[in-house]
Amino acid sequence: MARHDHNSVSSTDTTTNTAPLALATRALRAGRQGGRGDALVGGIVQSTTFLQDGDDVGSPVEFAYSRCSNPTVSELERALAELEGAEACVTFSTGLGAETALMLALLSAGDHVILGSAIYGGTTRLVQQVLSKFGVEHTFVDARDAENVQRALRPRTKLVFIESPANPTLVLTDIEAVAKVTRQAGAILAVDNTFLTAIVQRPLDLGADVSVYSTTKHIEGHSTALGGALVTSNPELAEKLRFIRKSTGGIQSPLNAWLTTRGIRTLALRIREQSKNALRIARWLSTHDDVAKVHYPGLERFPQRALALKQHIGDLHGGVVSFELRGGVPAGREFLRSLELCSLVEHVGSVETLVTHPATMTHGDVPRHQREAVGITDGLVRLSVGLEDTVDVIADLDQAITRAHAATPTPTRTKVERAGTDTAATLTPALAK
Ligand SMILES: Cc1ncc(COP(=O)(O)O)c(C=O)c1O
Repeated sequence: MARHDHNSVSSTDTTTNTAPLALATRALRAGRQGGRGDALVGGIVQSTTFLQDGDDVGSPVEFAYSRCSNPTVSELERALAELEGAEACVTFSTGLGAETALMLALLSAGDHVILGSAIYGGTTRLVQQVLSKFGVEHTFVDARDAENVQRALRPRTKLVFIESPANPTLVLTDIEAVAKVTRQAGAILAVDNTFLTAIVQRPLDLGADVSVYSTTKHIEGHSTALGGALVTSNPELAEKLRFIRKSTGGIQSPLNAWLTTRGIRTLALRIREQSKNALRIARWLSTHDDVAKVHYPGLERFPQRALALKQHIGDLHGGVVSFELRGGVPAGREFLRSLELCSLVEHVGSVETLVTHPATMTHGDVPRHQREAVGITDGLVRLSVGLEDTVDVIADLDQAITRAHAATPTPTRTKVERAGTDTAATLTPALAK
């Protein structure tokens, strides 16, 4: 498989039959079929079932019943596979539905899964509170060091599941290094690529077996359709995933698939612009006295900056930034209450800037000791940067931080070491764009 050019924003792939197309071009047409006289934009096939040939009953058909396959869903699956240069894609009703199917396809009672400790709260809940009831064992490891993955391997380890960048701390995992130890152990490596998408990071090119997506986020991009996807070039695995989907009933709905395919058309444009906006905002936050820490892989002082440059395409790092406000919970509460432009929601990856408080929202079900161990403190705020002019977003953050500071009378402005901050950047709101 062709390696992408990490220095090029217009990464190309030569695995398609036609001439290689840059990613942005591919996103605009991926999944489309047909020719002259066909609709440029595929329709939404809502039919639950499909007519069969009475003379040929029982022979395999592409579409029989929409729990198993559907033309609108297939268009989305072709699009996601093409975008990643992969052989197959299987979509689900949600990202967690996709993760559940992956685990059901690969794990039986007594089997073992290794997970990166910095991971989406719903994934943690799935293994700790659901799969454990069926005898599936798990170990969380600090996947920043592939040796920790190596040490956690057991004879019955079937799956290694990581997320890079991790939600919400933006900690990275060296996918190539973890892929090597996983392959040697004969296990499957799945990478949750929801935060970056194939435009900015290509897990399969880096040696992973499956790219996992909540398409609900950047891929659909407009907060109008839930969805999940598993992208792979392993035909046996794809078959197992389709079997699980048929057996458990978690397929993507045609309307959501259509909306998600439409989202893909502008994905490259959105994620590149959001990455640039996120960097501007992360730099501005880094200069703020009331912000203790900023996490963003595009910052010069990000602890894993070299890995970010190696693994992410074109020095773009996605739209998610997280930061810690000084003043603890009271300051955090006042900050969230004071936002006027940015929306407080449990979501990332949409066209508008979204703010989340992970400790009480996305990671509310993760035990405190477990989330604090990976840096999800009460004061951590997650920003999913949208497509607004950054001047306006910075002005909103600035007024909310100022009010939060005013509401916390204790002296909080002592300078401390800032992990991952870029003090060289001294952008004022007016200069930020
Ligand atoms: C990184 C990541 N993976 C998976 C999921 C689960 O996706 P969904 O909400 O579509 O089930 C989320 C949801 O927030 C997420 O942020």
